[in-house]
Amino acid sequence: MTLDEKLEELRRRHARAVAGGGEERRARQHAEGKLSARERLDLLFDEGSFQEVGEFVEHNCRDFGMAKQRIPGDGVVTGYGLINRRLAYAFAQDFTVFGGSLSEANAGKICKIMELALKVGSPIIGLNDSGGARIQEGVASLAGYADIFLRNTLASGVVPQISAVLGPCAGGAVYSPAITDFVLMVEKSSYMFVTGPDVIRTVMHENVTKEDLGGPATHNATSGVAHFSTRDDAECLALVRELLSFMPQNNREDPPFAESADSPERRDPELDRLVPPESDQPYDIKDLIRRVVDEGYFLEVHEQFAKNIVVGFARLGGFSVGIVANQPAVLAGCLDINASVKGARFVRFCDAFNIPLITFEDVPGFLPGTQQEFGGIIRHGAKLLFAFAEATVPKLTVITRKAYGGAYCVMASKHIRTDVNFAYPTAEIAVMGPEGAVNIVYRRELQAAKDPENVRREKVQEFRDRFANPYIAAERGYVDAVIAPRDTRPRLIQALRMLENKVDTSPPKKHGNIPL
Ligand code: HXC
Repeated sequence: MTLDEKLEELRRRHARAVAGGGEERRARQHAEGKLSARERLDLLFDEGSFQEVGEFVEHNCRDFGMAKQRIPGDGVVTGYGLINRRLAYAFAQDFTVFGGSLSEANAGKICKIMELALKVGSPIIGLNDSGGARIQEGVASLAGYADIFLRNTLASGVVPQISAVLGPCAGGAVYSPAITDFVLMVEKSSYMFVTGPDVIRTVMHENVTKEDLGGPATHNATSGVAHFSTRDDAECLALVRELLSFMPQNNREDPPFAESADSPERRDPELDRLVPPESDQPYDIKDLIRRVVDEGYFLEVHEQFAKNIVVGFARLGGFSVGIVANQPAVLAGCLDINASVKGARFVRFCDAFNIPLITFEDVPGFLPGTQQEFGGIIRHGAKLLFAFAEATVPKLTVITRKAYGGAYCVMASKHIRTDVNFAYPTAEIAVMGPEGAVNIVYRRELQAAKDPENVRREKVQEFRDRFANPYIAAERGYVDAVIAPRDTRPRLIQALRMLENKVDTSPPKKHGNIPL
């Protein structure tokens, strides 16, 4: 072969790999509103930076006439490139090639870049669009999945892992996204389920559509499996880029510092009146968050799930921070099972990746009721407590109003090694609300009273005057400072700067036993 012939062969092979499953299948993909694997990678990475690995890998299957159907790349495009000028690794399943199904060979490609990402210390992004295990390959394909799950698990807490679900993701295939840190889905084109509608109809005699069973609305609002729902592939991939901007490359680095035009000294007089002094009046904690953080920008995570707690990323004085906040506008901000699990997972992500935690607290307690108790609020609530307690990143808490009972302890109280605890003058820190407390403590007096309502009102006022303030906690040092709400931003930024070099440790152990 001459040199020109060799170069021509490379061009020919490259063209075959890029063609994937062919024009017709690609057109079908586009007709369904989906981009191709390569188009997705182009949007994910900084322009021209993506470098493919394993372009010519083919499957080894000889059964079911597969020997004659071999397509270079074998249904997944893998490689690395730059996202916001920082290195990242990605795989993109190509639905035009055997439905993006997972073969032994293409699992090997995915594992190869995962291993590189782990050695180098850079994020891994999975773009999922697949019919699941390659049926013709049987157990070899299942082995491929297990190989990926193992690497997902080993990478957890070492490098950020993000899964975009951009098409089908069924059967055991769902467990790779499930192990990763964040799952994004796309309206109308993506779905995730362990067993599909056909099996459910046969086994359970239940009729359910793919969309209702495992579409983005279900997984964002009901199951909590997904953290984001996006309108299309482009929006989804832009969001992955944005999400990464808050994270470090790995667990040994700090998140990137982002210079901001928003003054660290900015005080906001409006904040003084944002929290209603009456403890039963709702307000939107997101209004408060936006008034405090750099440029009012808050990237909410899990927005549609357990809305009684709000979690997400923002920047404060240029520092990337994770925010956890009770939401008094939903269920009065009570902690329930879903809120506890949502909060705990987010806290653990931030702690694993050196992202300081800011907690805004206004919580009347855990949600009462048989549904919650039977559902295990004890062990689920314990997750949030455990997560906050074990976190060693800088931790700052602002009690805006109610901090009652066990929920006071859980929500990053001083006692579980929170570094700086602020309270607004409107804070009420007590074992429970005044009405509940009076009913218990003065039960006999109330039963004996001629005018129990009057006595109750008097006692409630007495109780409120005595306990419903931040000063008893401040006298004991459980609250470091009572601050004017308008000063929240400068006070938090000063505290973050003070904690920049914080080092804290836990006793040596293999791992803790968070109550799962
Ligand atoms: C091999 C597959 C495939 C698979 C799809 N294809 N899934 N090939 N193995 N798992 C091929 C089809 O033969 C077809 O090839 C092409 O991909 C597109 O598939 P269509 O069915 O035409 O597409 P669509 O109508 O959009 O339906 C998509 C689908 C359906 C819903 C995903 O293909 C489907 O139900 N596939 C099987 C899903 C499944 O049960 N997978 C196994 C799950 S269990 P041509 O040549 O016609 O284009 C699992 C275990 C993992 O994954 C275990 C880990 C622990």
